Amino acid sequence: MKKIITSFLLLSSLSFSKEIILVQGAMDMEVDYLVKNLKNPTKEHVGSWTFWKGTFENHKVIVSRTEVGLVNAAAATTIGIERYSPTIIINQGTSGGHDISLHTGDIVLGSEIINIGAMRTDRKEEGVPENIRDSIFFDVVQRLRDNNDNLTTYKTFISDPSLIETAKNTSYSQGKLSLGTIGSADQWNREIERIKYLNTTFKTKTEEMESIAVAQTAKAYNIPFLAIRILSNTEIHNEEFNPKTALWCQEFTMNVIKNIK
Ligand code: 5AD
Repeated sequence: MKKIITSFLLLSSLSFSKEIILVQGAMDMEVDYLVKNLKNPTKEHVGSWTFWKGTFENHKVIVSRTEVGLVNAAAATTIGIERYSPTIIINQGTSGGHDISLHTGDIVLGSEIINIGAMRTDRKEEGVPENIRDSIFFDVVQRLRDNNDNLTTYKTFISDPSLIETAKNTSYSQGKLSLGTIGSADQWNREIERIKYLNTTFKTKTEEMESIAVAQTAKAYNIPFLAIRILSNTEIHNEEFNPKTALWCQEFTMNVIKNIK
């Protein structure tokens, strides 16, 4: 009997992949479907942040509701890492289009992620008009320190190339799948001229409010990271927020997770 139980335990543990996947969404509508699809979920609150731990396909998966914005996303990611020791972190959710070739429902895989709110200006005297186009990227916020105390300044952070490859080869039918730069800030920009400025300055395909905090934290811990953002709205084409996109993004993300070996 003992032998049977031991081999059963061995078999069931063998059927799981080695990956522990932390998958994040900021708002309820961006995590609900993921949580619904978790097997045997247990819910945990830490501070203001919520985690559901379970399994999906043959992976251990923790769904994390980060809440909105960079501070929330950085805190939720740090807690998620320290508590669950993920081997992969996926940040996914809605976003606002910057690229004229993209429409609502299209997905951007964040080959690069940048903090588009990190700006400084040179001094201007009183009476000289302010102008966002005079801002200079303030890259000190994208600095990380290694174990030897050395600081490195990153122009952008990247998604893990092999995770990008897996996502690129995952089918998606609600729109186009493309690779590009995702811009994050505690901002929601609706002025076309400002969006055009951000798009030309940072080469952003879309904007949102969390990915950079997660990408940077994941890099600080050297954990493979993937950003998946769907366009839920785009001022460029006057397309308003479509809540269905939050669901489509989760469906796609789950298919990506299925394809992770
Ligand atoms: N600008 C900024 N954030 C957006 N989000 C969706 N569309 C946009 C946009 N155009 C996402 C953010 C945040 C929430 C308010 O919605 O990532 O979590």
